[in-house]
Amino acid sequence: MNEASVTMPAADDLAALRAETEAALAAAADLRAWDQVRVGTLGKSGRLTGLLKGLGQVPAAQRKERGAALNRLKGELEAAIEARRAALEEAALDARLAAERLDVTLPPRPTAPGTAADGGIHPISRTVEELTAIFGAMGFAVAEGPDIESDWHNFGALNIPEHHPARQDHDTFYLPAGADGRRPVLRTHTSPVQIRTMLTQAPPIRVIVPGRTYRADHDATHSPMFHQVEGLVIDRTITLGHLKGCLIDFLRVFFGIADLPVRFRASYFPFTEPSMEVDIGWNRKSGELGKGEDWLEILGSGMVHPKVLANCGIDPREWQGFAFGMGIERIAMLKHGMNDLRPFYDSDVRWLRHYAADPLSPPSLAEGV
Ligand code: PHE
Repeated sequence: MNEASVTMPAADDLAALRAETEAALAAAADLRAWDQVRVGTLGKSGRLTGLLKGLGQVPAAQRKERGAALNRLKGELEAAIEARRAALEEAALDARLAAERLDVTLPPRPTAPGTAADGGIHPISRTVEELTAIFGAMGFAVAEGPDIESDWHNFGALNIPEHHPARQDHDTFYLPAGADGRRPVLRTHTSPVQIRTMLTQAPPIRVIVPGRTYRADHDATHSPMFHQVEGLVIDRTITLGHLKGCLIDFLRVFFGIADLPVRFRASYFPFTEPSMEVDIGWNRKSGELGKGEDWLEILGSGMVHPKVLANCGIDPREWQGFAFGMGIERIAMLKHGMNDLRPFYDSDVRWLRHYAADPLSPPSLAEGV
């Protein structure tokens, strides 16, 4: 603060301060330069602060007018400084956003196979992804249900009566009885989700149900916990022809064999009528699929029994459809030439590395699953 500025004509020195401050603000290219302008104007020894301090020396006659002009200028400069700060911060943010931008379309660098960081998709999960891709393309949605089921959902509603041998066949795991005196079960198949779907969804219905299932059975090809995928289609005019076409298409795409022989063989399930077991052609000796004279049973299927529809409140005179169920481990083993089911659950890293799928290449119908 010098004498000269105090004695300067009011309008001139204030106009000059405004012009110079505005020019300095405009020239401040970053927040650092901006802060120098701010301190140089409004700070303790800033130019405006100096003028305000000097107000006492202004002759009394001019003091009031000068004070008002200074206060006006102070308000204007504060606003200009604040506006410049906001503009600089916004520009800084824009610059950061531009500089730190990630190109999410950039493909990742492949890691060497078998290195510790190399994660993989378990063959069960991979098979479920493949099933979902294939049936998804046919218009199926995925449905789910609980692992712990009521006796009614797992057996009764599926037309498996109280003392039916199918209950023994399933080697059921029972849980302690609930309040109703009935013992819940670990579901022995995914078929109870047929019931749950039909009870909650009005037809037409088109779902698959991949999930865990349980039977008290343990050897090279049976595990007490395993996986199935159920299929259910209900509509007004669904026939056995649709069942056959759907399953033939699925099996040929899944195994990647365009002319895979598929055979439908009469069978029995309480919840379908007629019922059919489905076989695929293979060579028993070599294990090769699609070649040779032998047949291999691969899944169960049939037209949904009218009693099952009625149990779910669906009128069997108006609606009909088909259902199927297959073991996920079984089809995965056949596809990959595995002869033992137990390693699926052993967590042996060498086995997992060998059979795991690349998480960055999900199944695609275009490339073959
Ligand atoms: N639930 C049967 C099983 O576990 C398979 C099946 C499902 C058969 C649907 C016909 C229709 O063996």
